Amino acid sequence: MELILLGPPGAGKGTQSKLLETRYGVAQISTGDMLRAEVKAGSPIGLEAKTVMDAGGLVSDDILVRMIGERIHRPDCAKGFILDGFPRTVPQAEALDRMLHDTAVDLDAVIELKVDEAVLVERISGRFTCGKCGTGYHDKFKLPKKAGICDACGGTEFIRRPDDKAETVHARLEAYNVQTAPILPYYKAQGRLYAVDGMAEMNEVEAQIEAVLRKIGVPPV
Ligand code: AP5
Repeated sequence: MELILLGPPGAGKGTQSKLLETRYGVAQISTGDMLRAEVKAGSPIGLEAKTVMDAGGLVSDDILVRMIGERIHRPDCAKGFILDGFPRTVPQAEALDRMLHDTAVDLDAVIELKVDEAVLVERISGRFTCGKCGTGYHDKFKLPKKAGICDACGGTEFIRRPDDKAETVHARLEAYNVQTAPILPYYKAQGRLYAVDGMAEMNEVEAQIEAVLRKIGVPPV
């Protein structure tokens, strides 16, 4: 299965792609996570990306296209992948089409998670993750079962992303509206675009995505 989850910051792309990764036996690829790993490692890409990410802008197409071009050929993508955060511009979408064409792989679907802007801001500003295993939580929607202890690994350190500050969130939403939203008509013209209600509860959103995948003949493993 080759799937793209598309949507503004906080729409639930990371949440849903992690759930689907296990059920469909494919690799989840988050370009945001890849870039944050580069920043943490202090690599040349990370140094270039950090300033842009902290300001809520988009990192250059060249860097992202190179990163994805290498990533989708790794062994864990043998059964396919879910892209979370890529493509984010029309040139990225065109570059992805060329890469897939070269490897004779067909994109199954692009699923748009639709969420109102006010809800996005609330979701992003309440988000935090376990510093040890990366499991995601939310102050209001998904707290650890035991306060201060990660459900998945027992970790007790939690972190918040530097770009989740209110002023940066608005710049990220602007980047989505101006630079990423034009991808929607691009995929609609290809007949690959499906929309789901990202405002619903997490398991309901998951069920809607699975219904789309069933409809186009992609069953879970
Ligand atoms: P990236 O990491 O991709 O961030 P983003 O797109 O802004 O998306 P988020 O991770 O903020 O949100 P999400 O949709 O994954 O939502 P989540 O599941 O976490 O990118 C970061 C930066 O890297 C970019 O700004 C850019 O600078 C750079 N970058 C990355 N890719 C790039 C590219 N291709 N080109 C150029 N630059 C690039 O959910 C959010 C919260 O809501 C969570 O707390 C969750 O628990 C909660 N939640 C989720 N679903 C629900 C629900 N249904 N109901 C209630 N709560 C929910």
